Amino acid sequence: MKKTTALLITLLMMFAVTSTVLAQDVLKVATEAGFMPFEFVAEDGQLTGFDMDIIKAIGDKLGMKVQIDNISWDGLIPALQNKVYDALIAGITITPERAESVSFSDPYFESVLTIVVNQNNKDITSLDSLKGKIAAVQISTTGDFAAEEIEGLGSLLRYNTVPEAMQNVIMGTVHAMVVDLPVAEAYLAANPHAPLTHVGPVADNEFYGIAVHKENQELLAKINQALAEIKADGTYDAIYEKWFGAN
Ligand code: ARG
Repeated sequence: MKKTTALLITLLMMFAVTSTVLAQDVLKVATEAGFMPFEFVAEDGQLTGFDMDIIKAIGDKLGMKVQIDNISWDGLIPALQNKVYDALIAGITITPERAESVSFSDPYFESVLTIVVNQNNKDITSLDSLKGKIAAVQISTTGDFAAEEIEGLGSLLRYNTVPEAMQNVIMGTVHAMVVDLPVAEAYLAANPHAPLTHVGPVADNEFYGIAVHKENQELLAKINQALAEIKADGTYDAIYEKWFGAN
């Protein structure tokens, strides 16, 4: 082999190695950005919210650039299983059923369900009081799973997004929506003239986790390590305060 060819091959190999290293420096993340204040599209079109700041802070700790796509809620877990993404962050509650198909990080947020009601429906105060009523949920969320269990529920309307379901509570086509409490509060705050209120916690607390592919235990360990670091160094608290005010 001629010297120049050998040199060229060496250079090409070096380039290949460097570019894979660079390629690995991107953490590909998916979310569903209809979940203010965790993930939503700001006026400038950018994805923003508590989860977005958390995943970027984790990326910083890992020395990785974070690239986030906004996809449909029911497409998140399948896309992760097909390895289109490295991780999901979308206010996803850690449940035993979901943990059969994906691995969850340590919990990063404690939440609870509430019921958002149209102000005409003051008789709705708990899950049981939805008996005979029409409830809305975002499909395949913990709100959906809780509503499904209500005995004698009039009917259950499953929407693809939280804002669609909320719109239907506002219009009065449904009586109420079962949804995560911090999201209900943010929605009410952002829509102060909407004829809505919420009833406060109606179920046990739940915990959000970041999901990764079951085969990617190495990334899971790194994410947990980074989470612990941002909790220890004040980054987590600063992000929490930014979105929820002082604790
Ligand atoms: N925490 C609930 C769940 O995991 C709702 C999450 C909905 N998230 C979203 N980005 N729309 O089922």
